[in-house]
Formats: sequence, C-alpha cells, structure tokens
Amino acid sequence: MEAVNRVIRVRLRSEVVLINQVAEYIVGAGGKRLRPALVLLVAKALGYGVEQSGTNHHELAAVVEFIHTATLLHDDVVDESDLRRGRSTANAIFGNAASVLVGDFLYSRAFQMMVGVDDMRIMRVLSDATNVIAEGEVLQLLNVRNADASVEDYLRVIHFKTAMLFEAAARLGGILGGLDEAGQERMALFGRHIGTAFQLIDDVLDYSGDEAKTGKHLGDDLAEGKPTLPLIHVMQNGSAQQASVVRHAIEASGRECFMEVMAAVHETGALAVTREYARREAMAARDALSLLPPSVFTDSLLQLCDFAVARNY
Ligand code: IPE
Ligand code: IPE
Ligand code: MG
Ligand code: MG
Repeated sequence: MEAVNRVIRVRLRSEVVLINQVAEYIVGAGGKRLRPALVLLVAKALGYGVEQSGTNHHELAAVVEFIHTATLLHDDVVDESDLRRGRSTANAIFGNAASVLVGDFLYSRAFQMMVGVDDMRIMRVLSDATNVIAEGEVLQLLNVRNADASVEDYLRVIHFKTAMLFEAAARLGGILGGLDEAGQERMALFGRHIGTAFQLIDDVLDYSGDEAKTGKHLGDDLAEGKPTLPLIHVMQNGSAQQASVVRHAIEASGRECFMEVMAAVHETGALAVTREYARREAMAARDALSLLPPSVFTDSLLQLCDFAVARNY
C-alpha cells in the first residue's frame, strides 16, 4: 500500500493551492484504503506481477481511492457532516463550495489517470461505476425523510452508492489478473457482497459506534432523516409506539429524538438484525472467492470479509 500512497501523493498535485490544501487535508487524514486493497489483493491472488512488471495495479488502486475520496467530499456536504476520519470535515474547514469543487477535481484527475492506463475494459468499469454511484447518491436523496422506504429501496441505494465501487475494484483486480468475462463477473459479485456488508455495518455504527474509533459522529443518519435498515426494521417489526417514534424522527425531526429512537432500535434488536444481513452478505462474498487459488492474498481477502462485519471503525 506504500506504493499506492506514493502514487496518490504525486497525482494529487495541482497548481491551484486550494486544491492541494483540501485534497491533502482529507487524504492526509488516512482512511482504511480498503477499496485499493481489493484491487491489489485480487490481482495478486491471481498471480499478477509474477509475469507482468507494470505499475498499472498501483495506478488503478489510486484511481479507485480518488473516486472514493471524491464521493466522501461530496457526501459530507450533502449529509452536512462535520466529522470524518477523526477530524473536522473538509466542508467544515474550507466550506461547501471548496469541497464540491475539489471533489470534482479528484473525479476528473481519476479519469485522467485511468485514460493513461489505456485499456477500454478498465475505462468502462470505472466510468460505469462512477455513474452508478452518482445515481445512488441521488436515489438516497429521494429517500431522505421517506419513512415508507422499503428494505428493497434501501438495498438498492447501498448497492449503488457503496457496493458498486467495491464491485469495480474487485473487477479491476480480475482484469489485471487475466480472468475471462465469467471470472470477472465472479470477482464483481464478491465486491458487491462485501461492499453491501460494509455499508450495512456502517449503518449499524451510525447508531452504536464509538466516535473515537469510527472518526464520525453518531446519529448523522438520523439527523438527516435517512431510512436505513435499523430504522426500517423498527417500523416494520416494532410496536405501534416504537414505529411511530421512528416515523416521526425520519419525517420531521432528527438528532433531538436520538435517545428515543435508540431505545426502540435496541428493544427491537434492529442492530442485530442488520448485522445478520451483513453476515449473510459476507458469507456470499466468501463463496465468490472460491475461484481464487489458495495464497496469502486470498487469505487476506477472506479476512476482509470478516472485517467488513466485525469492524468497529
Ligand atoms: C466511508 O467509507 C463511506 C462508506 C461507504 C461507508 P470508509 O469507511 O471506507 O472510509 P475511509 O476511507 O476508511 O475513511
Ligand atoms: C456512504 O454513505 C456514502 C458514500 C458512498 C460516499 P454514508 O453517508 O453512510 O457514509 P458516511 O457514514 O458519511 O461515511
Ligand atoms: Mg455521509
Ligand atoms: Mg454512514
């Protein structure tokens, strides 16, 4: 990952000082670098690097992280979040306009880098994924304050906004590793399942996380009226009273109802149910990996499936 971080630092540069400041601010705060890890691990599990000697894997891993970082800059503006990676968000420090514009810079820099790799299959994967992520964020916007959103609506949003980039990352690893179409599909499926598990747990942590570990504020989703699975579960399975507390919080209020909503979430076991969904997704992700020959890289991917569910940051 050190090589990827080097590429990230070099490619981040711009002649415009504010771009460097904002981009370095969010990139320098760290992050788990999970999506670039998927590109590298899948490629290496397939033997990439044994015969090929290029650096495309580092470049593409950095592209994926740039796209992720751009979505974070935009997401924190839309969600009005003020804590990310244990620091004030870029929008809190530099303002919404700078965050949106530097997000655009990162997206377009990612596209320059991807064109540099000069492989039409890779351009298709990344341009399709970026487009779907944008659709996911808009779909989510349409569901804000919608207490009637169904589990299917929710799963569609998280597939689009989050799992899609994991899917693209794993598919890129498959392309680099020389898999045929069917094999690439299988890697994409792995990415989709682990990405879905990852977002399900993100939505659990929004109600139960330790801010010192997640680096994000608890209750951001509720403040914004996001109907995530824990809340949908309460509305569909809780008592009339519990359902009405949650419905009211989604439709009309927010953080001020946090304690009441938390009580309903705990009493109905909504977080355990959401974790169980995540566990099943992680199992499906593991199954999709059965294609890979045994190696330390495959083992790491299997461990990431467990991490996606067990994580507390
Ligand atoms: C945050 O992703 C956005 C989601 C899709 C939940 P990460 O939790 O991977 O963020 P960093 O990169 O580690 O900060
Ligand atoms: C993930 O959703 C959004 C992206 C794909 C960027 P969230 O809004 O839950 O992500 P966090 O919790 O702010 O990281
Ligand atoms: Mg957010
Ligand atoms: Mg979240």
